[in-house]
Amino acid sequence: MGVTIIIGGQWGDEGKGKVTDALAARAHMVVRPNGSTNAGHTVQTPAGIYKFHLVPSGVLYPGCDCVIGAGVAIPPADLLDEIEDLTGRGIDMSSLYISDRANIIMPFHPLQDQLEETQRGSNNIGTTLRGNGPAYADKAGRRGIRMADLLDERALVERLNLIIPEKNVLLTSLYNQPPLDISELLEQFTAYGEKLAPRVVSSEMMVQDAIDAGKSVIIEGAQAAMLDIDYGTYPYVTSTSPTAAGACQGAGIGPTQVSNVVSVYKAYTTRVGGGPYPTELDEETGDLLRRRGAEFGTTTGRPRRTGWFDGVAARYTARLNGVTHVAITKLDILDPLPEIQVCVGYELDGQVVHSPHAIAETYGRVKPLFETLPGWQEDTSQLTSYDQLPTNARRYIDRLEEIIGAPVVMIGLGPSREQLLWRREVDFA
Ligand code: IMP
Repeated sequence: MGVTIIIGGQWGDEGKGKVTDALAARAHMVVRPNGSTNAGHTVQTPAGIYKFHLVPSGVLYPGCDCVIGAGVAIPPADLLDEIEDLTGRGIDMSSLYISDRANIIMPFHPLQDQLEETQRGSNNIGTTLRGNGPAYADKAGRRGIRMADLLDERALVERLNLIIPEKNVLLTSLYNQPPLDISELLEQFTAYGEKLAPRVVSSEMMVQDAIDAGKSVIIEGAQAAMLDIDYGTYPYVTSTSPTAAGACQGAGIGPTQVSNVVSVYKAYTTRVGGGPYPTELDEETGDLLRRRGAEFGTTTGRPRRTGWFDGVAARYTARLNGVTHVAITKLDILDPLPEIQVCVGYELDGQVVHSPHAIAETYGRVKPLFETLPGWQEDTSQLTSYDQLPTNARRYIDRLEEIIGAPVVMIGLGPSREQLLWRREVDFA
């Protein structure tokens, strides 16, 4: 029994949904600690493909409590749509709970996201345009509206009266947009509150009670450590801490309550949006990875940038997050390659360095130092046990394990549930 945190060890889209689904089969609770609809966690089961944005991936297991924690920013209309869609597909949604402290993404946040990106011009971040940055900025600026406010008309009126006049100055004078109407927002968001009210709880207490009762809790991080607002490639990052520490904060637990930190890495790398990316491939091999790996955003549909495995970034995030176990996904995508490169260091102005530079522009100038490993050129997608992997595929995994510095316990060989093999069986329950 214990708490297991799942994080992304690269720039997102590593397959955290699939790994969460595997562990959730034996868990009592799955908590989403951060992010919002910028995330898209995909789970492929015999019943179909599910793309979760706000709802924890554990919802497919009846009896598993699913919690949207205080660190998540929620656009209520999108959440209601996601609940309705899943209900329509026959999923029991009665165990979905929402933190009363979660901040709300208001209609002006996506608008502000779009306007801010336009203003950045060629330096744009390439955000998902879902309003996350502006919503988290308002949260930190103490201008947020929270889920509990939607359930208390007096509190909501007070918050809107405080926040909207200031927003209107920004929207009308800086962005040339029409002002927002407080009474319309009040009506709209009170209605959302009424619909969501039965699910709104003090989620941190629910999580703590589960831990006290000896239940197993999975915390399903969104985004990834290289997109972290402090340690990622700032300013080309998301607006939360998609780290193990951030997961604790967003779920409402302390570091001493965590038993395992599982970091998910793709067998290569991808990145969506702008920002430095030392191992990026922009030729034939990059296209091959994009095509074979279906590397198009779950949330935005944008083509993802593709590159070789970056061992420097991988080790950096493993160390910063106290990673105890590793899952390597999409190994099968590398099947046809005669040779595979892994970045083991960077060269910067004639010096070899082993961590990402703090300035994005400088980090963008590093030259990756590659090690070349032989490929295996065999179809691995139908294999059912780790021992069946070709020798060179196992060598590749052994090398990644050495570089990352934590044991690789799971290998993904395809999108469906059964295409996830245990290298070493671990009881996370
Ligand atoms: P935002 O989170 O929408 O503000 O976007 C900031 C950066 O994080 C952009 O480069 C996005 O492409 C990236 N990003 C945000 N969420 C995800 C995700 O779930 N997967 C991959 N990239 C993401």
